[in-house]
Amino acid sequence: MTTSPSSRAAIPAPDGSPKDDMDLQLDGTTALITGAASGIGRATALALATEGVRVALLDRDGSALKETANGCRDALVLVGDVTDEDQVAAAVDAAVGSLGRLDAVVCCAGISGPVGSGIEDIELADWNAVFAVNVTGAFLVLTHALPALRAAASVSSSASVVLLASDSAVVASPGMVPYCASKAALVQFGRALSVDLAGSGIRVNTVAPSIVDTPMSRGDLGSAAFDDPGFPVQTAAEVAAHVVYLVSPRSRAVNGTTLLSDFGYAARSGSPA
Ligand SMILES: NC(=O)c1ccc[n+]([C@@H]2O[C@H](COP(=O)([O-])OP(=O)(O)OC[C@H]3O[C@@H](n4cnc5c(N)ncnc54)[C@H](O)[C@@H]3O)[C@@H](O)[C@H]2O)c1
Repeated sequence: MTTSPSSRAAIPAPDGSPKDDMDLQLDGTTALITGAASGIGRATALALATEGVRVALLDRDGSALKETANGCRDALVLVGDVTDEDQVAAAVDAAVGSLGRLDAVVCCAGISGPVGSGIEDIELADWNAVFAVNVTGAFLVLTHALPALRAAASVSSSASVVLLASDSAVVASPGMVPYCASKAALVQFGRALSVDLAGSGIRVNTVAPSIVDTPMSRGDLGSAAFDDPGFPVQTAAEVAAHVVYLVSPRSRAVNGTTLLSDFGYAARSGSPA
């Protein structure tokens, strides 16, 4: 996310949620979602479950995770920290053991870290914490999940990894250097991994949204900023829809790319016409 409001006009969100006619071919597949206790991870878990995906949910917040699980049929709840390799290994083992196979991994766990500070005022521990969750967390989860993803892809030729990056990978708001750097690293992590996995049947893509109304962004910007925002805001469910599409075999030709979901902000030059 970025924290600078702007005068760009928001495109209204669609009313209601009309039944999607497109069969996403996800019914009966399986997925592990990190950061599933809140925000985009929770919305993604609910959206995948609605498509008939059996989900395993990983987050360090166990009580909030159970609330997500209550909205999903037969969800597996895995309480753990994505920066702790032993906990990640145990969670992935439990997910594969319970689900029987693993067709998709969605990495949503993330933190903002210090917001509003110049780098002279940022402690090394805070910098490291941001990279530990936002980058190393994805590395650990995928390192341990890849054998199961490879096995699934060898049967279905269709396994998918989706990483939640941010428009902060390509544009920056002041005072967010660690977060921006971590999200740029995550984008290139995903692109490079897609190259390593070429031909395996496992696709890797990133989603890079601008501001999404979640506890994270409300914590960074203050809830009052969302009362009458002068900047476009997405819902977590809207971002989850991007993720669901990228998980689906409907997007089988989409690999090694980043879905920049920012209302077109990054495309616009600051120069006058
Ligand atoms: N909200 C936005 O505006 C926005 C915009 C672009 C990208 N994103 C990214 O989307 C992802 C989800 O963000 P969100 O807005 O839903 O945030 P959120 O704070 O609502 O949810 C993040 C979840 O990650 C979990 N988490 C954090 N550290 C963890 C760890 N070490 N181990 C396990 N779980 C951990 C939290 O407990 C929480 O449930 C993040 O990667 C974020 O950077 C958010």
